[in-house]
Amino acid sequence: MSTLTLRPGAPASAILGVGGYRPRRVVTNAEICELIDSSDEWIRTRSGITERRWASEDETVKMMSIEAARKALGRAGIEPGQIDTVIVATVTHLHQTPAIATTIASELGATGAAAFDISAACAGFCYATAMADSFIRSGSSTYVLIVGVERLSDMTDKTDRSTAFIFADGAGAAVIGPSDTPGIGPVVWGSDGDQSHLIEQTQPWDKAMDGDNFPDGEPHWPMLRMEGNPVFKWASYTMAKTAAEAMDAAGVRPEDLDVFAPHQANMRITDAMFRALKLPSDVVVARDIARQGNTSAASIPLALEALIESGEVHSGQTCLIIGFGAGLVFAGQVILIP
Ligand code: UT7
Repeated sequence: MSTLTLRPGAPASAILGVGGYRPRRVVTNAEICELIDSSDEWIRTRSGITERRWASEDETVKMMSIEAARKALGRAGIEPGQIDTVIVATVTHLHQTPAIATTIASELGATGAAAFDISAACAGFCYATAMADSFIRSGSSTYVLIVGVERLSDMTDKTDRSTAFIFADGAGAAVIGPSDTPGIGPVVWGSDGDQSHLIEQTQPWDKAMDGDNFPDGEPHWPMLRMEGNPVFKWASYTMAKTAAEAMDAAGVRPEDLDVFAPHQANMRITDAMFRALKLPSDVVVARDIARQGNTSAASIPLALEALIESGEVHSGQTCLIIGFGAGLVFAGQVILIP
């Protein structure tokens, strides 16, 4: 029997730089309350959100991704031509094909890079981090650009009081490269398709575009529908266990953790997880949701960028990231701050 030669991989990988793009338009709770029956107080106390950003026409998935990626590349000190793999995590690139990752690679100058999109909703950034780490350690890739990007406002019914106040837009990117020592711990990930109905597109595109499916005879653009409370409970309790497993897998005890940057789904979920994990009070906690809303795949890299830019966290610190959302899907790992 013939044997095949394997390409040697790097001993480990690390995040080398992160960057974000926040849309220009700030949407306050007051503006949201013109569209739904709610109040600034309800939105702040139930979700922790005081304002969010919604993208304008020119702030496309591609444009936001490229802006975030350029910042990440600059901070990593990596030239676009060194990137050999581009992974874009998004559920709001509205073209079925081709993947947006190929255009992003070309426009950045990552010519010829392997490029593809993944659909792992709010866990997308952690899924992409796990894939980049594996590709680098297996020798398939050397420098990987990952992008989490969403224009959730395109698929949010602005009159739906269960989603209009929470979803928002933005992009976050990270450059991941080889390292002698681990900068990305083992991923703990999974899914629960039995609960796929909890967050979903209201109807598939073919049904949406056929007016015969609706009483008014008109096509109806699909929106995101969410049963918030069951998702809230699942995220607050089950995800804390996943986060604890990710810390165990990386050999990091609560007292060793410096930073906690979960998916910015709801400030109360962050607080519930913090308590369940029994994290020490001096752990720095990402609270980017207050100004940014829930940006799904973009939320973790945006939160990391904010913590780094504010000087609250420093290179080499241990940071627990965990994403969870539509699918249901989840993924968490401990990383080192670049
Ligand atoms: O990112 C991916 C995953 N997504 C998440 O992780 C989101 C998880 N879910 C959540 O964050 C929360 O469930 C929400 C913030 C969406 C909602 O908070 P909640 O505490 O779960 O509220 P609820 O749906 O249980 O509703 C509580 C009450 C109800 O009134 P009654 O029955 O107690 O009188 C609702 O009618 O709040 C009412 N309500 C509102 N009131 C004002 C629901 N939506 C609103 C609203 N404004 N927008």
